[in-house]
Amino acid sequence: MKILVTGGAGFIGSHTCVELVNRGYEVVIIDNFVNSSKRSLDRICEITGVMPILYEADVRDESVLSEIFGEHEIDCVIHFAGLKAVGESVAMPLRYYENNLGSTIALCNAMKRNSVKKLIFSSSATVYASGAEPPFSEGSPTGGCTNPYGWTKYFGEQIIRDAARAEGDWSVALLRYFNPVGAHKSGLIGEDPQGIPNNLMPFICQVASGRREKLNIFGNDYPTPDGTGVRDYIHVVDLALGHVAAIDYLSKNVGESVFNLGTGKGYSVLEMVKTFERVNDIKIPYEIVGRRPGDLAVSFTNTDRSAGVLGWKATLGLDDMCRDAWNWQKKNPNGYSGL
Ligand code: NAD
Ligand code: UD1
Repeated sequence: MKILVTGGAGFIGSHTCVELVNRGYEVVIIDNFVNSSKRSLDRICEITGVMPILYEADVRDESVLSEIFGEHEIDCVIHFAGLKAVGESVAMPLRYYENNLGSTIALCNAMKRNSVKKLIFSSSATVYASGAEPPFSEGSPTGGCTNPYGWTKYFGEQIIRDAARAEGDWSVALLRYFNPVGAHKSGLIGEDPQGIPNNLMPFICQVASGRREKLNIFGNDYPTPDGTGVRDYIHVVDLALGHVAAIDYLSKNVGESVFNLGTGKGYSVLEMVKTFERVNDIKIPYEIVGRRPGDLAVSFTNTDRSAGVLGWKATLGLDDMCRDAWNWQKKNPNGYSGL
């Protein structure tokens, strides 16, 4: 079976490509490297022994999509390609809407023209309304996003849902990720943020490696046991395996399905720091600063549907996440650009 992976050179895409190849799938990637490096593909090859087929192009380029669907019999598309920096999306909303929604529309058009009927979409827990009560289940209220990035996920889901309903015979999985962290245990692929990391784990890793002096903890006055924000961190390899499970699910189910991908457990920022310090035997200096606008106090998932219907469960814990994230950072202190 052949899988088209948009954004396959990125953090989650590269880990998913590894698991797809391990499962015996043929992988075709389209990526324009706007936020990734071609070197991640060499690393996928180093891990699996297979170099994925690459189209270096923008997903919005429908002529390239036609070329891909013409040259390969694609069974299923996994759509990771998108811009994901929340702050940047507030400063450049049109770039985000254009890129993230434009790519989704172009992809759905090309699938329709070429009778490709299976699609997996990278959505986010950020679509849950800020008033929703954790644990979030797939039926929890959505919308009221606090930034354009979040809206691109909300609208992206809606566009795909409407396209699938109009076609009638599409099988679509909308996967809402919680907080993906960690890296492949080989340390050959991992998260490679450009500039100052926005997210907690890459920031901790850069403090550990001496690239940043200390971690700023955004608020310790939340209604949580230690006052810091609580999130459902999920190992990126577990997340990748969630996509493999979704392919199996789509082979037996027509229509649209939503699944939350998380562990179901919430950890605070301070618990993250302490676990990282213990597992890797490194001190992480930190300072408590003010809250970051738009942050929730607590976010974690209810896992009933992903376990019961999708048949998937995360198996790696916080120790694995901290160990593997640091292993990647240690081996690649400047990410792929240092190679
Ligand atoms: P990433 O930036 O590492 O990967 C995205 C990839 O898409 C990159 O390789 C980038 O070059 C490519 N890309 C972007 N726009 C493109 C376009 N128009 N044409 C071709 N390629 C394009 O991000 P990631 O963390 O791997 O995230 C993958 C997906 O999952 C994104 O859609 C993201 O919004 C979503 N997501 C990520 C998280 C997270 O915390 N990482 C959480 C929830 C959802
Ligand atoms: C953030 C985005 C979310 C996006 C997700 C994945 C915001 C408001 N939310 O989620 O839309 O889907 O990333 O890309 O940006 N923290 C610190 N110091 C730091 C960084 C983070 O204390 O330097 C804290 C945060 O306040 C939060 C926790 O760590 O409590 C996790 O933060 P982060 O990794 O950015 O993820 P989210 O905020 O859950």
